[in-house]
Amino acid sequence: MRVAVLISSRGSNMQALVNACKTEGFPAEIACVLSNNPDAAGLDFAKANNIPTKVIDHREFEEREEFDAALSDYLASEKIDLICLAGFMRLLSAEFVNRWRDRIINIHPSLLPAFKGLHVHERAIESGTKFTGCTVHFVRPEMDDGPIIAQAVVPILQDDTPEILAQRILVEEHRIYPLALKLIAQKKVKVHGSIAKISEATEGSGSLTNPAVDT
Ligand code: GAR
Repeated sequence: MRVAVLISSRGSNMQALVNACKTEGFPAEIACVLSNNPDAAGLDFAKANNIPTKVIDHREFEEREEFDAALSDYLASEKIDLICLAGFMRLLSAEFVNRWRDRIINIHPSLLPAFKGLHVHERAIESGTKFTGCTVHFVRPEMDDGPIIAQAVVPILQDDTPEILAQRILVEEHRIYPLALKLIAQKKVKVHGSIAKISEATEGSGSLTNPAVDT
C-alpha cells in the first residue's frame, strides 16, 4: 500500500508512521511526505529518511478548490492508495474528500466526536471532563468527522496544562496511528455507513482502545 502523509509543521505523527513502515513485514510504505508549508520542520526528517517530499504551497492558489485539485492530481500521479493527514492544518473541500473517500484518514487529539476543531486541549481541561484522548478516523467533508478506526483514552489530571496534556496525548497518537494504518493495509477495516468495523479486532489485545497494544 502506497501511503502519502500530509503535514503542515512538526510532523511527529508522520515520523511515527515512517518508523512503523520501516519495521519488517509492515504492509505499507510511505511513498511521499507532502506539505502545504515549505518551512514544515517534518520535511527535514522525511528527506533524511530518503522519503520523497513535495511542497504544494496553498498561498500560491487563489481558491481552495484549485489547491485541492493540484494536491489531488499530484497524489493520483504518485499512485497513492491511502492519504494520512498528520497535523495537516488545511480544510479539504468536499470534492477532494469525496474523490478520496475511504482512502483518507486523519488523527485528531480528542475522543471524537467530542472537541472537534482547534484549541482542543484547553477546551477539554476547561470542560472538567476527566478523560480525553485521540482518534484516528476516515475523513468526511465535515471537519473532524467520519468513521472511527482507533481511539486511545488519556486521563486529565488536576494539574494538567494544555501543553502537558498535549504531550501525554501525543504519546498515544504515535501508538494508535501506526496501528490504524496497519489494520487498513491488512484490509481488516470495512466501512459500513458511519461505522468502521475491524475484523479480528481482539487478536492479541483488546485492540482499538487502551490498554497499550502490540502494534
Ligand atoms: C497532533 O496532535 C494532531 O493530532 C493534531 O495536530 C498535531 C500535529 O502534530 N491534529 C489536529 O488537531 C487536526 N485536527 P505533529 O505535526 O507533530 O504530528
